[in-house]
Amino acid sequence: MNSDRFQSRLLDWYRASARDLPWRRAPGTGPGAANAPPPDPYRVWLSEVMLQQTTVAHATPYYAAFLSRWPTVCDLADAEDAEVMAAWAGLGYYARARNLLACARAVRDRFDGRFPDTEAGLLSLPGVGPYTAAAVAAIAFDRPANVVDGNVERVMSRLFAVEAPLPAARPKLRSLAAGLVEAGAPGDWAQALMDLGATVCRPRSPRCDLCPATEDCAARASGTPEAWPRKSARAARPTRSGLVFVLRNGDGVAVVRRPPRGLLGGMLGLPTTDWTPSGPDSEAIAAAAPARLDWREAGAVDHVFTHFSLELRVLAAEGPANNVEWLSLDALGDLPSVFLKAARRALAMRDGE
Ligand code: ADE
Repeated sequence: MNSDRFQSRLLDWYRASARDLPWRRAPGTGPGAANAPPPDPYRVWLSEVMLQQTTVAHATPYYAAFLSRWPTVCDLADAEDAEVMAAWAGLGYYARARNLLACARAVRDRFDGRFPDTEAGLLSLPGVGPYTAAAVAAIAFDRPANVVDGNVERVMSRLFAVEAPLPAARPKLRSLAAGLVEAGAPGDWAQALMDLGATVCRPRSPRCDLCPATEDCAARASGTPEAWPRKSARAARPTRSGLVFVLRNGDGVAVVRRPPRGLLGGMLGLPTTDWTPSGPDSEAIAAAAPARLDWREAGAVDHVFTHFSLELRVLAAEGPANNVEWLSLDALGDLPSVFLKAARRALAMRDGE
């Protein structure tokens, strides 16, 4: 690996083909360039928090909506909690939205409305972890921070054909990335690596034909670049089971707000028993049912979470219930996908589909 060659080729590639994203300044307009102001740290931070949650395509409209409603970090800090939670709906975990507000308020109250401009200062903010601190330091303040996400780990594992499997290889991948940080253009460098990982050095079917690093990439030289990163044999995922209730009343389906902590915390869900290795007993089922009705079996759905696979039996009924909210049928898409699957299954049966 020729580091100088790799660095200059990757930066050239980025400057020619960077994705045009609303929180970015034009590539190549880093410190010393007069033609573009550095990106606003608030924008960079907001985009990074959203992008940890979801893809660029999904996050972009939320980013635009947040900025037009709360143009500065102090505007966001002054917002009502409930307004921010509602604007975050659809982006997943509410804990993130709560941290977002706590961070904006800390910037307002402790730093006079200005984000700290070092990695250490950023790390002192609530909800800001090592990745976000490094990303904001590099992109908004041109600090030579080592910004390592899953994309960058994959790029490093291939460039150097690292044989240690993930996740044990993480410290090694991080130190390889640290050795390459381009101190002359840290913001461009961080985003160039991210773009390379997202668009070219993809997990499956990498586009080595488009890659500026082919001559420096050990995995490419091996002929099977997609065989990196190595993964340790995964312990079989355990299975849990549960039972979920699809209750329809007119145009609505009964939903409940899930507890703030834990899996799918704070999101809307269908009424359900707990999900356990042995599955619910009849008492647990009766306690979880949203109403005493004539429930009919509507089949089962499977869903894979990171730490377990879930088998859910679906029961369906029609009628009223207390202590639930009603979600209209055309808004079912707002439910997390495990519940959407269950609702579809029950409603398709009802319609004889
Ligand atoms: N993913 C996370 N941060 C990103 C950024 N700044 N640009 C593109 N993709 C990203």
